[in-house]
Amino acid sequence: MVSFTLPLLLTLASTALAQNTTTPLRYMPFGDSITEIICWRALLWDKLQTTEWAGNVDFVGSGKTENNCGNTKYDRDNEGHSGFLAINIANQNQLDGWLTRNPADVVTMHLGTNDIVQQNKPVADILAAFTKLVGTMRTKNPKTKIVVAQIIPMGMGNFNTKIQDLNKQIPAWATGLNKTESPIWVVDQYTGFSASDLRDGVHPNASGDKKMLDKWWPALLGAFAAAKADKTAAAAAVEARKFVA
Ligand SMILES: *[C@@H]1O[C@H](CO)[C@@H](O)[C@H](O)[C@H]1NC(C)=O
Ligand SMILES: *[C@@H]1O[C@H](CO)[C@@H](O)[C@H](O)[C@H]1NC(C)=O
Ligand SMILES: *[C@@H]1O[C@H](CO)[C@@H](O)[C@H](O)[C@H]1NC(C)=O
Repeated sequence: MVSFTLPLLLTLASTALAQNTTTPLRYMPFGDSITEIICWRALLWDKLQTTEWAGNVDFVGSGKTENNCGNTKYDRDNEGHSGFLAINIANQNQLDGWLTRNPADVVTMHLGTNDIVQQNKPVADILAAFTKLVGTMRTKNPKTKIVVAQIIPMGMGNFNTKIQDLNKQIPAWATGLNKTESPIWVVDQYTGFSASDLRDGVHPNASGDKKMLDKWWPALLGAFAAAKADKTAAAAAVEARKFVA
């Protein structure tokens, strides 16, 4: 029995250690058109290639839109869905299927714009949808590291009062759902963003993409580090069991 068990554990241990160093973290950019038809993902990918995360972060998602970002190299995989409302994604359980097809360790979420602009949904209903979406992320992966945006302003119409109302309530909402194994970090994409950072009143242009990247960046680095620490701990636990055996 022992002569059979020990090599098995050693195999498990070396597999886990190999994963620690070779399996990239899976990062899902999740949202609407402000995640789909923009270039901040390209900027983010490029910037990651200059860091320790080069080759260690795999963007995941069913979308592969070419956004004319003048960048043929970046990983276009994302779960941005133009025109989608957070409330509809939640009610229709769409994120469940998306995460089944493309599991994620880290998710960024920028949602709520269409709920407000298209259908003037109450902030409470948008936050309830966010709660369900976070629940789905954690059902699929209890250790999901989540970065949620306070969303960018609109450059047209009279939507920004409501957008600010949503944004104001996001930090307390996130704190209420925060978990040690699945932290939520809130990123303020609104402050410092103006109409001149939008190409069409809705979507960032080059200066807006750069601003969005800069806001995501520190939170994402923290999320990647936390996700990597989980994998290291899992590998160490297997290694420890080898000695117990
Ligand atoms: C959630 O907890 C993490 C620490 O695990 C902390 O860094 C973060 O600010 C918290 N988020 C909120 C919204 O309170
Ligand atoms: C972004 O678009 C606005 C007009 O919507 C323009 O004023 C600004 O110069 C543009 N900036 C860049 C960097 O493209
Ligand atoms: C696993 O990752 C941790 C944290 O990044 C690192 O310190 C450790 O050396 C890695 N383990 C192996 C076997 O490479």
